Amino acid sequence: DPIQPPDLSKCHTATVTKDTTVACCPPLVRIIDFKFPSPREPMRTRRAAHLVDEDYIKKYEKAISLMKALPDDDPRSFKNQANVHCAYCNGAYDQVGITPTLDLQIHFSWLFFPFHRYYLYFHERILGSLIDDPTFALPFWNWDSPDGMQIPPIFANTDSEDPIRNPTHSDPSFMLDLDWSREDIVVSPEEQIKSNLNLMNTQMVSGAKKRTLFFGTPLKAGDAAANTGQGSIERSPHMNIHIWTGDPKQAHTEDMGNFYSAGRDPIFYCHHANVDRMWDLWKTLGPRRTDFTDPDWLEAAFVFYDEDKNLVRCKVKDCLDSRKLNYDYQKVNKIFP
Ligand code: C2O
Repeated sequence: DPIQPPDLSKCHTATVTKDTTVACCPPLVRIIDFKFPSPREPMRTRRAAHLVDEDYIKKYEKAISLMKALPDDDPRSFKNQANVHCAYCNGAYDQVGITPTLDLQIHFSWLFFPFHRYYLYFHERILGSLIDDPTFALPFWNWDSPDGMQIPPIFANTDSEDPIRNPTHSDPSFMLDLDWSREDIVVSPEEQIKSNLNLMNTQMVSGAKKRTLFFGTPLKAGDAAANTGQGSIERSPHMNIHIWTGDPKQAHTEDMGNFYSAGRDPIFYCHHANVDRMWDLWKTLGPRRTDFTDPDWLEAAFVFYDEDKNLVRCKVKDCLDSRKLNYDYQKVNKIFP
């Protein structure tokens, strides 16, 4: 059977490590069913974060600061947006209808891509509605392209509200190592680019010829998630970039280095926009690169807050075509054959 959306009224403390817990239950509000956005709405084009102009940066910063200014009981608030990720990923929900209780975990399986797609879709729409701009789109961290292999400059500014990050990596002249393993091994930019492109090729092309290799393995109601179920991109570079961005001096590599705190850093949504873009790209890379047809995937469901403060029940089958969700990605230099 497909994974059911969590019951928010039964949300409980989340676990960061064995002896660290955190309260991150998002508010329970009215639940409605997902509807596609009207085709009359303008298309939102997500742009590469290193290519955006001043105008965009102003809008983006305004939208984020308005979201941060929303009160804690508003489901659209930045804090609640981050809590959505914490609750779904650090064990604050149990799978509905399963005894004995079993954590709901949307990483390490085929739920990874669709969950984050919806999460960003609603996050983007909330930001756009806060600045009254129906064309507003998230930036994407174009880490698959040589020009995007550093922290995007729009995230490098410093003010008191700063998210917690690795200070060395926060300098946009420091190169991103997509295969980073908690140690900075500085090589020449040419070598770094070469090894990053090699990794991308393995994760997208040679090592992702089958659905389960790319998306991750099936997770159905009653299954416990295990990190052996990760798809190629989820494992690397997705995870490495999380840890690369977080601060190694914090107990749990906050913010980006732990699920519970990752959504507190706006760069999370920019990182995940590129992860989401990989899903679209992968489907153009050759035969058999198609979505699963298993009803246990298609009917799996989540809930997210929309721009009208509703909780929306969304099924995987409705998010397979990003254009039907009225967003698209800027075409940037093509690196995959
Ligand atoms: Cu839900 Cu990048 O993790």
